[in-house]
Amino acid sequence: MKTYFITTYGCQLNVHESEKLAGVLQKRGFLPADKLEDADIIVFNTCAIREGAEDRVFGNVGALKKLKKEHKEKIIAVCGCMTQQKAKAEKLYQVFPFIDIIFGTSNLHKFEEFLDKKTKRLLAYDEDFNLEGENMPFYRTSGENAWVNIMQGCNNFCTYCIVPYVRGRERSRPHEDILKEVKEAVNSGYKLITLLGQNVNSYGKDCGEISFAELLTKVASIDGDFKIAFMTSHPKDLTSEVIDVVANNKKLLKEIHLPVQSGSNSVLERMNRKYTVEKYLSIIEEIKTKIPDVRITTDIIVGFPGETEEDFEKTCSLIRKVKYDGIFAFMFSVREGTVAEKMNDQVPFEIKNRRVNKILELEKEIKKDKLNGNN
Ligand code: SAH
Ligand code: SF4
Ligand code: F3S
Repeated sequence: MKTYFITTYGCQLNVHESEKLAGVLQKRGFLPADKLEDADIIVFNTCAIREGAEDRVFGNVGALKKLKKEHKEKIIAVCGCMTQQKAKAEKLYQVFPFIDIIFGTSNLHKFEEFLDKKTKRLLAYDEDFNLEGENMPFYRTSGENAWVNIMQGCNNFCTYCIVPYVRGRERSRPHEDILKEVKEAVNSGYKLITLLGQNVNSYGKDCGEISFAELLTKVASIDGDFKIAFMTSHPKDLTSEVIDVVANNKKLLKEIHLPVQSGSNSVLERMNRKYTVEKYLSIIEEIKTKIPDVRITTDIIVGFPGETEEDFEKTCSLIRKVKYDGIFAFMFSVREGTVAEKMNDQVPFEIKNRRVNKILELEKEIKKDKLNGNN
C-alpha cells in the first residue's frame, strides 16, 4: 500500500487545505504514513506569515536530501503560501534539486494533475486566484471539528501582512454551497463547524451574496446537535448584527477572536488597520454587554516599525482594559513586498523580544486575576 505524509505550517486555512491534499491522495488509494521517512509522497504545505515559518521550511525540506538520495522513487512536493511568492518558489527549486513538485495556493486544485506530471520536475506559478479549490475532495483530520471555508483571500492590505499577496483578493463562496457542506458535516457527526476566512465579516461583499450575519443565521438553522465558531474577524467590519447572532443563537460558541494588533492609534494608522483604539474598545463594550459570558481573544504585533516605548505601553494598557481570555503575541517580521518593509525605524530584536515577553506576563496576570474572581 502506498502512503503519504503532509507537514502543515501556518493557519487553519492551511490545515484545511492539507485536508484537501489528503483527500486527493486518499482518492488515489494512498493511506497516511505514521512517519515522514516511510511515506511515498511527502508534502510540505507552507506558510509565509513570518520569517521563522519560512526558515523552518528551508530547514525541514533541506533535511530530506539524504532520504531522497537513498529513495529516488519518493515524491517530494512543496506548496502553500511560501511558494505563492515567485522568488521563493524559484529559490526552493534551485537550492533543493530533489524537490519534485512546487506550486502555490492559486494552483492547489491542480495537485492531482501535478501528480501525473510527465516532466522530471515541475514548478507551477501563476496569480490566477480562483475558488476551484472548493471543489476538491477532502479528508477531515481535526477530530470533532469540521473546517468550512466561506471565502478566500483578503482585500485589506495591512501594511505588515503578506496574505493579500499570497492569497489574492476576497472571493466568497455561494452560500448554498456552504450550507450544503455544513449539512453534510453535521450528518456525518461533526459537533463543531468552524467557518473560515481571513476576514469573515466581509463575506459576500465581493459578489452581492448575503451578509455574514445572515450566513451565520442560515448555518445555525440547520437541524442537528452542533456548535458554530468562526475566524477571523477584522474589527473594522464586525457588525452589530453579527454580535447579535452570537449573543442570541444557542448554536454559536460565545467566543470572538478580534485581533487588535496594537493599542496605539499612530501604530494602527501606519498598519492601515482602519480603526482607532476608541472604536475598538466600543466594539468590545458592545460585545461584553450583549454576551456576558463571552471569551475574547486577540492577536498583537510588537515592534512594528517606529513603535516607541510609549506606543507599547498603550498596547499594555489596552490589554489590561479588555482583559483578554487569550493573546497571540508576535514579533513584527519584515515581509518582502509589503509597505512596512520600506518603513524606517525598524525595532531591534532585543526590544521586540522584551515586549513580547511582557505581553505573555500580562496574559498570565489576567488569567490569575480571573481565577481569583476579579473580572
Ligand atoms: N486575517 C487575520 C490575520 C491572519 S495572520 C486578521 O486580520 O485578523 C494572523 C496574525 O499574524 C495577524 O493577526 C498578525 O497578528 C500576525 N502577523 C501577520 N503578519 C505579520 C508580520 N509580518 N509579522 C508579525 N506578525 C504578523
Ligand atoms: Fe493580513 Fe490584514 Fe488581511 Fe488579516 S486583514 S490577512 S492581517 S492583510
Ligand atoms: Fe495562513 Fe500563513 Fe498563508 S497564516 S494564509 S498559511 S501565510
